[in-house]
Amino acid sequence: MIDTITDLPALRRHILEWRRAGLRIGFVPTMGNLHEGHYSLVELARAHSDRVISSVFVNPTQFGPSEDFTRYPRTPEADMTGLAAAGCDALWLPTVEGMYPFGVELASNIRLPGVADVLEGVHRPGHFDGVCTVVARLFNQVQPDVAAFGKKDFQQLAVIQQMVIDLAYPLELLRGEIVREADGLAMSSRNQYLSAQERATATVIHRTLRGMRDATLAGTSRLVVEAQAGLALAEAGFDVDYAAVRTPDLAEPSASSEAYAAPGPRVALIAARLGRTRLIDNIEFDLR
Ligand code: PAF
Repeated sequence: MIDTITDLPALRRHILEWRRAGLRIGFVPTMGNLHEGHYSLVELARAHSDRVISSVFVNPTQFGPSEDFTRYPRTPEADMTGLAAAGCDALWLPTVEGMYPFGVELASNIRLPGVADVLEGVHRPGHFDGVCTVVARLFNQVQPDVAAFGKKDFQQLAVIQQMVIDLAYPLELLRGEIVREADGLAMSSRNQYLSAQERATATVIHRTLRGMRDATLAGTSRLVVEAQAGLALAEAGFDVDYAAVRTPDLAEPSASSEAYAAPGPRVALIAARLGRTRLIDNIEFDLR
């Protein structure tokens, strides 16, 4: 059985008990509808701490007005069972009122310029403000020693890393590997929105990412790689937000693609829509 906590005083008592016992606390924040990707984060946190606490909170402030906040899948029973099986010790289930005591409109907002403004930031304006605003609160509530986030949300990790440094949170971020289905599709709560036909097409994303990596390693220029990937996705039926090759800081490359040919780590990222479902994925590699 997993301890389920629904109010802040109870959470604080729980955390204090662990602290008094000298235990190291690992944290896995989620929006629920958990899958193997989330459970691998629990295992990662477990390997770096004595107790693991996860949160499930579908955060209204990180969804745009036309996004899927109301239809976002909510599966509390299955989440509890899965978390317990994955070795999670406690589950923090805040309410919207508990998370935003003055209401969403009057909530203190954390806005990170720079890394939050590119890629997802262009296509989902305000999204990372909502993510930072809730993750900062969750860090204040749980006060973990380590917190695990998945690399599927590559930019989210970069944004949170910047926030942790900038706001001097005394914690270490753990980066969990992307967990994929057998056919390469990155696991995501949003995959279940896909029709059978869309689900089959969705595998094109990972294939395209590998193609972007291989073409970059073979010396094809960034702009050509990005254009070819965009075309391949569009031909498969995707509405493409971006197909981009970046350095891991996600800085916009300079106009000169030659400068971008310098060796070092790279990440290829895709965000694209199939019908009403928006999917993101990425692949990291080293340019030698
Ligand atoms: O990655 C997520 O599930 C969410 O963005 C997070 C980090 C739990 C904040 O709501």
